[in-house]
Amino acid sequence: MKLPQGLVKELIGRKKPKLAEIELTLFENCDVNCAFCGHDKKSIVGMEQAEMLSKIPLIANFLDSMDEDVSMVNLHLVGGELLQDRLLTSEKNILDDYTLLIEAYKKLCFERNIEPRVIVVSNMLTTRSEMVKEWFRKINETIYMRLIASYDLYGRPITKRYLENISFFKDFISNINVVVTKEAIEKLKEDDEVFEFLYQNFPIFMDDFLPDSWTQHMIPSDEEYLEYLQLVAEKYPKLMPFGDAISKLKSSQLNEIQFTTFNKCNILPNNMVTNYLWDRHRPDHFEGTVNYEDNSNMLFQFLEANQCLSCEYYVSCPLRCPVSWSWKNRQRSAGCVNKRFFDSVQK
Ligand SMILES: C[S@@+](CC[C@H](N)C(=O)[O-])C[C@H]1O[C@@H](n2cnc3c(N)ncnc32)[C@H](O)[C@@H]1O
Ligand code: SF4
Ligand code: SF4
Repeated sequence: MKLPQGLVKELIGRKKPKLAEIELTLFENCDVNCAFCGHDKKSIVGMEQAEMLSKIPLIANFLDSMDEDVSMVNLHLVGGELLQDRLLTSEKNILDDYTLLIEAYKKLCFERNIEPRVIVVSNMLTTRSEMVKEWFRKINETIYMRLIASYDLYGRPITKRYLENISFFKDFISNINVVVTKEAIEKLKEDDEVFEFLYQNFPIFMDDFLPDSWTQHMIPSDEEYLEYLQLVAEKYPKLMPFGDAISKLKSSQLNEIQFTTFNKCNILPNNMVTNYLWDRHRPDHFEGTVNYEDNSNMLFQFLEANQCLSCEYYVSCPLRCPVSWSWKNRQRSAGCVNKRFFDSVQK
């Protein structure tokens, strides 16, 4: 069954996030190759200044279509890798192009009475650390700009430089992002020294993995996802979003849905605008219907399959990423994994 977005929003009610998010992927180009990442790392689409600036009207359209009760908008600037060394040279410094884009974004926000916030997502491998930090200092004179530093327990290069950059940029890092693959869950069971360090020093968001057809072997089964949730409860209660959900559950506090769907858009390098999916994702990869512009039908399918609205944990549950959950080729168990997890922590 397919419902218009407005009706799904009504169903979700108070759990609808107040934070809007624009995920602007400028280009897919990257000089490393993480095992779980489906980007075309050799692609140069979107790397020219004119292509970057062509995103401005798309951002304006999104800002004008947001719900009125949104209290904050974050512009996530993403690649590929935006801070890769070969783009930060004395002949051509791509930070100047990002600055123009950020200035234009700031103007759009001011015209609409919105406070601009920019988040740059990076693999933290740059060796041009001084130059990048100076750029952060300069931009922060007029706009709040922070880094999301990615870390992964498996499939991502973590070097001495990475660790140095984490310390060097500490004050500009808002949080660490980790992707929950099957392999990452296995590694989480062992003691990972870097993960322990990051856990002690930064907020960490554990994001659901969205595979491609060639990485679908990495998507956790429901049973593995449950093992991951149990590790959060036993070892890592500060991890977001489930650590936070446990404390909210204990005090019956409201939790917004954590894998944002509403008031979120993805602007892709070729100027396609979606609600999370990429054009490389084919409808037959997913259960149910696929609508690239609006994935609220996937959320509706999730709510219906798990009978969330009549669930005792609904108020505090962060749910799961409905797009990743809808991936066809993954091992499913009967019943809701979150519910089995909350049952076990309630005992
Ligand atoms: C595509 S990367 C681009 C930014 C930068 N190169 C980095 O690695 O942080 C943006 C974020 O998406 C995450 N990511 C990569 N592949 C993913 C996938 N298949 N599913 C979910 N998140 C993914 C990365 O770990 C990173 O935190
Ligand atoms: S560093 Fe980022 S963009 Fe590059 S391969 Fe890894 S996840 Fe993908
Ligand atoms: S525990 Fe499961 S059924 Fe209950 S609200 Fe969360 S996702 Fe839905």
